[in-house]
Amino acid sequence: MIKENDHRYIWHPFSSWSAEPDQVPVVKGKAEFLYDAEGKTYIDAISSWWVNIHGHSHPYINQKIAEQLAELEHVIFSGFTHAPAVTLAERLVQKAGGGSGKIFFSDNGSTSVEVALKLAIQFWKNRGEQRTVFLAFEGAYHGDTFGSMSVSERDVFTQAFEKLLFNVEYIPLPTEENIQDIRRKLAGILEEQRVAAFIYEPLVQGAGGMRMYAAEHLQQLVTLVRQQGVLCIADEVMTGFGRTGTFFASDRLPERPDMLCMSKALTGGYLPMGATWVNEQVLSEFRQATPERTFYHGHSFTGNPIACAAANASLDLLGNAAVQQGIEELEFRMVALADEFSAHPRLQDVRVCGTILAMDVRVPDEGYFYTHPVKKILYDTALENGVLLRPMGNVLYVLPPYCIREESLEQVRQTLYKCLEKTA
Ligand SMILES: Cc1ncc(COP(=O)(O)O)c(C=O)c1O
Repeated sequence: MIKENDHRYIWHPFSSWSAEPDQVPVVKGKAEFLYDAEGKTYIDAISSWWVNIHGHSHPYINQKIAEQLAELEHVIFSGFTHAPAVTLAERLVQKAGGGSGKIFFSDNGSTSVEVALKLAIQFWKNRGEQRTVFLAFEGAYHGDTFGSMSVSERDVFTQAFEKLLFNVEYIPLPTEENIQDIRRKLAGILEEQRVAAFIYEPLVQGAGGMRMYAAEHLQQLVTLVRQQGVLCIADEVMTGFGRTGTFFASDRLPERPDMLCMSKALTGGYLPMGATWVNEQVLSEFRQATPERTFYHGHSFTGNPIACAAANASLDLLGNAAVQQGIEELEFRMVALADEFSAHPRLQDVRVCGTILAMDVRVPDEGYFYTHPVKKILYDTALENGVLLRPMGNVLYVLPPYCIREESLEQVRQTLYKCLEKTA
């Protein structure tokens, strides 16, 4: 009945409602496992869209949410505040800004980006300068709202809206080979002083195909754009909270960005929440309390206390030595898996960053294709074998909760081989 009514009443994300197969009706989650209504178990090897870091239904986060629920479920976040939000903001300011700057709360990854983009534009307006162009990487994905779509790659995701998207200058993802060309191209773009901000997913482009690049190359570009006063926005929606080996991927760079976007694992993957950290320089242009300099942006559920309680609980767990050790061990396992799969004839560019393992399945036309039909073969084979993988076209990746146990990783490993056999 769930399946029939799902078809009848629900339109799922990124889908054509008329052509969707049955959705898996999940009734329970525990640690890395999902259990469906028919009694089948799945290993959630993609952390339910990259959000879940401590496992499903974690007793500590459950308890903290229950405690908060008994006190206050929600309150308007304008004119009112509450301890869970203040505690969380203080902790995030510490992590993102070393104690300086502020947090602006929103609802999800896209809105955390939207906030940063709007702040960047208004920052320049408040300064009396017209800078409205953004700089972004080719292959970027920053979300599905209009601003976040605009700074993303122009592709099948955005093509229907292309005429309405704003002006963005794109540069390729840097490599040892192209970094000098990019620097030259950048110098030309920056000369006109129209660029408000540079937005990037540090170290790993997620939805762009788990493309990885070096911190030192990013740093070179950041240094260059900063020389022209351009603001730097790190979109850490996917990379934050330990995913790439440091708390934020930006921690690998010697300088902090001007703004940093967070969501997904912020609440341990429990509840929707976005947060944008803003540095003192950006804040200073909003200090004067005039209507023109006010930031008119807010959402009904901004700073929701239950989401804040989940986020605080998740941060408690991340500060736990045993959890940190688990992350390190998982990183080692990912490197070992990458070494093993590198030799596989059906694969190319097997890569790893922190707890993310990614690989390109060879297809007749070289490259990355989100809509490539091999995706369905890989996805179905993994599910049949009790593993939730969600390849992006021919890009197969594993991005599990940090608590995943060795036996489950072994099942994922064997499943990857089965998936690859099916593509032969
Ligand atoms: C880097 C990045 N930014 C922004 C988003 C958008 O987040 P949300 O889906 O929560 O709106 C995503 C989602 O995958 C992302 O990976």
